[in-house]
Amino acid sequence: MFVKILPPEVRRKIAAGEVIDAPVDVVKELIENSLDAKATRIEIEVVKGGKRLIRVKDNGIGIHPEDIEKVVLSGATSKIEKETDLLNVETYGFRGEALYSISSVSKFRLRSRFYQEKEGREIEVEGGTLKSVRRVGMEVGTEVEVYDLFFNLPARKKFLRKEDTERRKITELVKEYAITNPQVDFHLFSEGKETLNLKKKDLKGRIEEIFESIFEEESSEREGIKVRAFISRNQKRGKYYLFVNSRPVYNKNLKEYLKKTFGYKTIVVLFIDIPPFLVDFNVHPKKKEVKFLKERKIYELIRELSSRKHTILEIPTLNQKTESYKPTYEVIGQLNETFILVSDGNFLYFIDQHLLDERINYEKNGNEELACRISVKAGEKLTNEKIKELIKEWKKLENPHVCPHGRPIYYKLPLKEVYEKLGRSF
Ligand SMILES: Nc1ncnc2c1ncn2[C@@H]1O[C@H](COP(=O)(O)OP(=O)(O)O)[C@@H](O)[C@H]1O
Ligand SMILES: [Mg+2]
Repeated sequence: MFVKILPPEVRRKIAAGEVIDAPVDVVKELIENSLDAKATRIEIEVVKGGKRLIRVKDNGIGIHPEDIEKVVLSGATSKIEKETDLLNVETYGFRGEALYSISSVSKFRLRSRFYQEKEGREIEVEGGTLKSVRRVGMEVGTEVEVYDLFFNLPARKKFLRKEDTERRKITELVKEYAITNPQVDFHLFSEGKETLNLKKKDLKGRIEEIFESIFEEESSEREGIKVRAFISRNQKRGKYYLFVNSRPVYNKNLKEYLKKTFGYKTIVVLFIDIPPFLVDFNVHPKKKEVKFLKERKIYELIRELSSRKHTILEIPTLNQKTESYKPTYEVIGQLNETFILVSDGNFLYFIDQHLLDERINYEKNGNEELACRISVKAGEKLTNEKIKELIKEWKKLENPHVCPHGRPIYYKLPLKEVYEKLGRSF
């Protein structure tokens, strides 16, 4: 017969090539992982434009020793658990394919120390085969090294671009992530030299540092969509950057629209904060291309911005945070003296009052047993004040999803489904 099923190693390499086709893709995935791990400092190093070595080191929460071998498996992620979570992704990653792909087509080393542990673990993987696991002394955080990308895919390796081109792309990429995460220090070392050194700043300061120009800021907001633009005119060449819910993205139509609206010699850095259900990042496996559900609304908001009178006068601004889209919660009440019901407009949350309080107390004093004892119990009637206080604390938690013993704190029901069941459009 003519049809054959390819052996798993071959399929694995082909699949990996779809996620990663150049060093810059590796850098992107590793930076996103560091940001998802709440790093406040990220160091990136590349040798030979990343073809020889890519190293990304962060001071994030690290990986639990029990998970260290799992992270290179296909579909291994700590970021979502089930299909409906896809409607509300708040991290950069969620597919669990990046480390799997990267480690399938390189000589890969990952070392990580989880923030609650005294030591780290290191794994080495070569072309998808786990070579070693060992304990290592290190600071809290994660360091990934990727040597000889595509060493086992010579056909692909031949098509890598020139080192210079790769270096340029990597620098651009680091700048994009630095723009949208001004609260993080970014360092880029290329061929042994430090080529970017960006210290934590407010957003406008970071943009001005990166483009070495003065920017003015305009923003407008309607129906839950917020558009914020930083504009610098009379440049040699126009540049147009788009960030949607903190993610650097690309949308051809919107870029053309920005060019037309702000002019060909303007740098425009545009942030759109939009409820997650109005945007689809799934268009492309690399998550770079986005589609909007209410595209026309966005154009309207941009036109509104651009038609404002521009004042180039520099007025000192307060620290501006890049708040990405953050839902506000409406408290509905208590159910069966066990659950607190809240809604963020997209989901109805059933929060277990005991598990929530336990998590809050655990994060305050670090003692599981004590946290359990002093927390409100199931079956306890709560006052409205107490409920509000718990919800306020919930939003501040480092881990708002599971209790100290690993049980989920809440169950959330997508309102979209409820609307659909009742024949209404959401
Ligand atoms: N720098 C890091 N710090 C902490 N955890 C990490 C880091 N990089 C990867 N991980 C863990 O490894 C998992 C797999 O990473 P990845 O393959 O990029 O998938 P995804 O980001 O889609 O979850 C992540 O879900 C996370 O739990
Ligand atoms: Mg990832």
